[in-house]
Amino acid sequence: MCGIVGYVGEEQATPVLLNALKKLEYRGYDSAGIAVLDSGRLTVRKAKGRLRVLEEKIATEVIRGHIGIGHTRWATHGEPSDVNSHPQTDVSGKIAVVHNGIIENYAKLKAWLESNGVEFRSETDTEVIAHLVNFNYNGDLLAAVIETIKKLEGSYAIGVICGNEPDRIVAARKDSPLVIGKGVHENLLASDVPALLEYTQDVYYLDDREIAVLYADRTEFYDDYGARREKQSVRVEWDISAAEKNGFEHFMRKEIHEQPAALANTLRTRIKTYAAKSINLEEIGFSPDWAKAGRVVITACGTAWHAGVVGKYVFEHFARVPVDVDIASEYRYREPILNPHDIFIIISQSGETADTLAAMRMAKTAGAKILAITNVVGSTLAREADLVMYTRAGPEIAVASTKAFTTQLVCLYLLAFQFGLLRGTISPERLETLIRELESLPDKAREILREESGIQRFAARQFNKDKVFFMGRLFDYAISLESALKLKEISYAHSEAFAAGELKHGPIALVDKGTLVVALCTQSALFDKMESNIKQVKARGASVLVLTYRDEERFNGSADAIFRIPRVPDELTPVLSVIPCQLFAYYCAIQRGHDPDKPRNLAKSVTVE
Ligand code: AGP
Ligand code: GLU
Repeated sequence: MCGIVGYVGEEQATPVLLNALKKLEYRGYDSAGIAVLDSGRLTVRKAKGRLRVLEEKIATEVIRGHIGIGHTRWATHGEPSDVNSHPQTDVSGKIAVVHNGIIENYAKLKAWLESNGVEFRSETDTEVIAHLVNFNYNGDLLAAVIETIKKLEGSYAIGVICGNEPDRIVAARKDSPLVIGKGVHENLLASDVPALLEYTQDVYYLDDREIAVLYADRTEFYDDYGARREKQSVRVEWDISAAEKNGFEHFMRKEIHEQPAALANTLRTRIKTYAAKSINLEEIGFSPDWAKAGRVVITACGTAWHAGVVGKYVFEHFARVPVDVDIASEYRYREPILNPHDIFIIISQSGETADTLAAMRMAKTAGAKILAITNVVGSTLAREADLVMYTRAGPEIAVASTKAFTTQLVCLYLLAFQFGLLRGTISPERLETLIRELESLPDKAREILREESGIQRFAARQFNKDKVFFMGRLFDYAISLESALKLKEISYAHSEAFAAGELKHGPIALVDKGTLVVALCTQSALFDKMESNIKQVKARGASVLVLTYRDEERFNGSADAIFRIPRVPDELTPVLSVIPCQLFAYYCAIQRGHDPDKPRNLAKSVTVE
C-alpha cells in the first residue's frame, strides 16, 4: 500500500529519500520515516501524518549520510503513530527496516522473539523483521536477510540497512512491488518507477523471492538460497514530466485530459491498416486457440471490475461467448467452478492488487489460461499471466482511476472483436466498421473534453446534493456503477448506482426532493424505458441530469440538464459516457474543497486485503 525507497551513492541520502517518497505519495499513506547511516551511525526519524510533518520535524537538523531507506506507511497492524511508523529497528539499534505488505505469521514470530527476551516497541508486524535480521546476523547482512525471509509468511517489499555494513542496502520482495534504479555512482530502490525517474530511467524489476544488494557502484541479485543471479535492466520510456502534473492543478484532471492520447496509444500497432482493417494481437502472443474458449471469466476490483462488467456485455454481444464477471475478493473465497478450458481475463491498472492476484493464482492452479490487462509493465500480474495486454495509459497517479479505465475498455473491445471474428460472429466487413468506430474514439473524447466548462458549471450548482444516484440499463448501468464510485471516492457525496429497471424494486424509496438522479441514456432500444424511469424520479421531486447523444432530442423536455456525447454505436458508448461523469466527480470534489488526488481513506495500490 505504502511506498518504500532506498538510496546509496555520492549524494546526501536524506533529500533524495524525501524527494523519492514524495513521488510515491499517490499510493496513499498515513505516516512517513527515514533511516540514514553515517559512518555506521544510524539516524531514524519518523512522524505520523504527511511527509510535510516529517520534513518539519527534521528541518532544524542536518542528517548526514550517503545511504538510507525511507517509507510512507499505510497502517495495517497498529494505528498510525510515530512509533508504529517505519523504519523499524532491532534491539541493538543497528538494523533498520522499511516494509510494505503484511507479515501474516507475525504473531507467532513475535511470541517466539519475546520468549527469547526481545522487547517490542511498536504494534507493527514489521518489527519482527528487524529483530529476526538481528537474530540471524553474524556479520553478513545479506545472509541474515535470506535467513529471515525464510521465516516470513505473507507479503513484503523490504529495504534493510545495518550500521556494521554502511556501504549496502539489502532489499527483497514477495507479493509487493519493488523496483531498483540503476544510476551513475548511485543506486536506488522504490515501490514504483515515478520515485526513480529523476535519477535514472534504467530499472530492474525485482521478482518474487529475489534479493537485491545495492552498493553505490553496482547492484547484485540473488535468489532466496543466496545464489547469484544475472539480471537485465529495462529502460523506462516515461520521462519525469509524464509522472508530474504538466500544468494541471491535479493529476486527476490531467489524466482525464490525457484520455484521447491514451486511447490512441492503446489502439496503436493493434490495428492492421493495409488491405482491409483488422486487429493485430500478435504482439501479445494471442493465438486463435484462445478464441475457442468455452467460457470467459473476468475478475477484478473496483473500477477495473466495472470495466469487466462492460467486458461481459461486449464479449456476449460481439463474440457470443458466455462470460462470468466477478469481483476478485468474492471470487477467491467462494468455490468457483473452474475449468481448464476457461479463459481468464484479469484486469488491474496497477497489476498489484492483492485480491486480484489471488483470484488469478486460483485460476492458474486450475489450469486456466490467463490474459492480463494492466497498465504497469513488470507488475506482478504482468509477470505471472500467460498473456499480457498493456493498456498503455502512461502512469496514473491520481487515486481515482480514469484513463486506466477507458483504456481497459478499449483492450476489451479489441479482444472481443477478435474473438468475434475468429468465432464467426463478426464478419470481416463488420469488423472494419467497428474498428473505424474504435479509431474515432480519441477524437470524440477530445470533443467531450472541450465541453468541460458546461460540466463544471453544472457541478457548481449541484455539488452540495446529499444523494446522487446514477441509473441506466446495460452498458449505461455499467457506467453508472463507475460514475457513482468516482463521485463517492473523491467528493464523499453519497452516490449509488442502480440498474434503472430495479428502481421500483427498492431504490425509489430513497428518492426525494434533495436527490440528484443522473440518467444515462445511450441504449437506443431502451429509451422508452428510461423515459418512464425519469418520470418516476421526477414525480418524487428529484432533479434529473440526462446523459445522451448530441443529436438525440427526445429527452429535451424531461431533464433539468443534459450532458451530450458524440454518437457511436450504442455498444461503444462506455468509453465516452464515462468522461462527463469523471469530470462531474472531479468538479464536485473541488467545489466541496477536497483534494481529488488524495481522497481520504483510499490508496492507489491496494496490495493488502
Ligand atoms: C478506482 O478509482 C479505485 N481507486 C479502485 O476502485 C481501483 O480501481 C481498485 O482498487 C483496483 O485497482 P487496480 O486496477 O490497480 O487493480
Ligand atoms: N504491515 C505494515 C504496518 O502496518 C506495513 C504497512 C504498509 O505496507 O505500509 O506497519
